[in-house]
Amino acid sequence: MGETADLDRKDLDMPAVTLPIHDTPSRPRRRRGRYALLAASLLLLPVVVLGGAAAAVWVSAVTDTGGEVAFSNHLAIPPLAESRVDPDGRRVFDLTLQRGRTDFGLGGSSETWGVDADHLGPTLRARRGEEVLVHVTNDVGEPTTLHWHGMELPAAMDGGPHQVIASGRTWSPTWTVDQPAATLWYHPHLHGRTAEHVHRGLVGLFLVDDDQTRDLSLPSTYGVDDVPVMVTDRRFTAGGEIDQSGEPFRSTGLLGDTVLVNGTVGPYLDVTTERIRLRILNASPARVYEFGLDDGSELAVVASDGGLLPAPFRTDRIRLSPGERAEVVVTMTPGEERVLRSHPTRVASDPWSQRMAGGDDTLDVLQLRAAGPLDPSPPLPDRLAAAPDLDRDLTNPDAAPARIFRMSGTNINGRDMDPSRIDEVVTVDETEIWEIRQADGQPHNVHLHGTQFQVLDVDGRPPVGHEAGWKDTLFLSGGDTVRLAVRFTGHTDPVHPYLIHCHLLQHEDRGMMAQFVVVEPGQHAGTPSAGGATSPHRGH
Ligand code: C2O
Ligand code: CU
Ligand code: CU
Repeated sequence: MGETADLDRKDLDMPAVTLPIHDTPSRPRRRRGRYALLAASLLLLPVVVLGGAAAAVWVSAVTDTGGEVAFSNHLAIPPLAESRVDPDGRRVFDLTLQRGRTDFGLGGSSETWGVDADHLGPTLRARRGEEVLVHVTNDVGEPTTLHWHGMELPAAMDGGPHQVIASGRTWSPTWTVDQPAATLWYHPHLHGRTAEHVHRGLVGLFLVDDDQTRDLSLPSTYGVDDVPVMVTDRRFTAGGEIDQSGEPFRSTGLLGDTVLVNGTVGPYLDVTTERIRLRILNASPARVYEFGLDDGSELAVVASDGGLLPAPFRTDRIRLSPGERAEVVVTMTPGEERVLRSHPTRVASDPWSQRMAGGDDTLDVLQLRAAGPLDPSPPLPDRLAAAPDLDRDLTNPDAAPARIFRMSGTNINGRDMDPSRIDEVVTVDETEIWEIRQADGQPHNVHLHGTQFQVLDVDGRPPVGHEAGWKDTLFLSGGDTVRLAVRFTGHTDPVHPYLIHCHLLQHEDRGMMAQFVVVEPGQHAGTPSAGGATSPHRGH
């Protein structure tokens, strides 16, 4: 697949059409000259045609909706999932994955999938220290899985490709929530079908709460001044159906021209408080957003994937690749309107890949409409949480990385994902350096299951902003090498693997994923349980 993408690029790279320079030929040579010119033109014809086609693709590949979106729909807020506490003290959720139809207001309705809904799912919420039990019933009519992205939990509860929920069956993972407050999320992870199932809409948030965060004066009234912002992009057919057919030359996978926030097209949010906390999730299959406000005003980033930053990071832009989250606090003045917009951002090394990967696009995302009078909000705290400190536990910070993952095409270290192969064996409680190399100039990111890591450096420079906080997903723009400090605590299992993969879903589905187990010191890896769970489902 990587080769195909490379070929596409080479064939369509804009050729420089240079005509041969003739000196004035003498008469006998003129005819030959004419034939030569004719032959040359015939040879050049495909180049010119291809060049023209490339130019057409080049021009049409850019999407710019800046200032063009009529924000006419009230932003939907996902409901909080109901739960109960069972006699064992566990918080129990019942979720049903189901099919439905949704009218996005684009002239017709579309088949969608949702969790207890026609489209998308409710927000689960649990406190640090609580034991949770989730009954997930699969009514979508085909196998799928539900993965808890960002959650530190036993691998057997992770909901990856090995925990397939057969059609009509219920899967009931249980674990103790034990990590700092954070904005996590859930989505299917069936090998080879993740993009499709996520695209249909089996996506929602899982918020972890803790006492430390509760005691800070951050905006925290769900849906009022603490607002989920799940951003995804779609293409729609003329009849209003979600269009899943890919486009040629998009080696990243599908990029949409329509942005949805919490499933709402053209959304606006009525702001009633001076400060508002947006929990932004990039739930898109392939698109990288560079969020900012249209007037360039300040975003105070307070949390990354894994929870609070040490202090608010004030900036005007924040880049999030698929799977990444950030919490930002925006301060509004009464009566004003602002637009959260995604700006062009560097995603690839060469201009062609940059454009085909959406790096030149501008997209309007969400309008914020402040009420006339705004309820006062307390000032932002100066200090939020302890900084990531895994670097202090490295025995030798300058040592060679313990593991190197080279991301290229649609594989890692030259290999496609094989559900029956364990690629790495990691010892619990050891703090290691993992080096991730983006080796093909194309946009990729790296996501680890089962832990939150600390970014040591990005191309030799220390991380800034949200990348300096706890992360489970990190963007690699063209040519980047990043070093991570990684440690797994608590859960060992020689048989059930965790995953490391690119979160561009088409890349992931095509094999850009590796498996590792976390074991006790000296323990060996077992053989991953097969049981139908591991067969990839490709195509139809
Ligand atoms: Cu959000 Cu392995 O995934
Ligand atoms: Cu994950
Ligand atoms: Cu990738």
